[in-house]
Amino acid sequence: MKRRRVIYEGKAKILYEGTEPGTVIQYFKDDATAGNGAKKDTIEGKGVLNNRISEYLMTQLQGIGVPTHFVRRLNMREQLIKEVEIIPLEVVVRNVAAGSMSKRLGIEEGTPLPRSIIEYYYKNDSLNDPWVSEEHITAFGWASPQDLDDMVNLTIRVNDFLSGLFLGAGIKLVDFKLEFGRLWENDFMRIVLADEISPDNCRLWDVATNEKLDKDRFRRDLGGVVEAYSEVARRLGIMPESVQGENKGPVLVQ
Ligand code: TMP
Repeated sequence: MKRRRVIYEGKAKILYEGTEPGTVIQYFKDDATAGNGAKKDTIEGKGVLNNRISEYLMTQLQGIGVPTHFVRRLNMREQLIKEVEIIPLEVVVRNVAAGSMSKRLGIEEGTPLPRSIIEYYYKNDSLNDPWVSEEHITAFGWASPQDLDDMVNLTIRVNDFLSGLFLGAGIKLVDFKLEFGRLWENDFMRIVLADEISPDNCRLWDVATNEKLDKDRFRRDLGGVVEAYSEVARRLGIMPESVQGENKGPVLVQ
């Protein structure tokens, strides 16, 4: 038997060589880190939930025509994705002030923003993913003006769609982070949504109580991390097979 090849190991995921040419297997670990690795722990069940939640959200987005790297889920912790050239940017969308924006600009957490705001961070662990502008991105060639235009258009569509989808499940989409990749098909390139969309990279608050249902429970030592992620999965109408059989679709929360 041949051991499969690890392409890349990140903080929360491992990428293995795929089963078909041009594909990669994305494995979701239970590891959680915060503050660029300063805080570490293992949260049993997190990987299974994120695999399932990200599968659901990527599939829903594909359904409205947003191109993504997602092909299909393989098992509880793995999904098959298309091999893309990752653009070294974290694209953050904010609908409500929270986290680093609140700290940096002195805006109280929970303050609704006059409009959705998109920010860019340069993916570089040794520099702590610094905040950058479109000027830096195009000047240093991390993305072309056309790439950026495509990313912004997709980001706005993703935000509109996911805000509505979560609201239907009684969840406020406060902010989230997206990553994009270049997908080459013969001589043509398209920008597609990559990485994952899960409570690890979104802020999700209960609409009625503002209870946090995301990774801030880990970052801020609030406890109940897996319970919160399970609650998100439950409200979206998805749960790992071991917990709930088929996907019955979103559950309307009154
Ligand atoms: P921030 O308030 O810490 O800048 O985070 C904004 C959003 O982006 C929040 O939903 C968490 C997500 N995020 C990541 O997924 N990865 C990161 O490295 C950072 C800094 C934020």
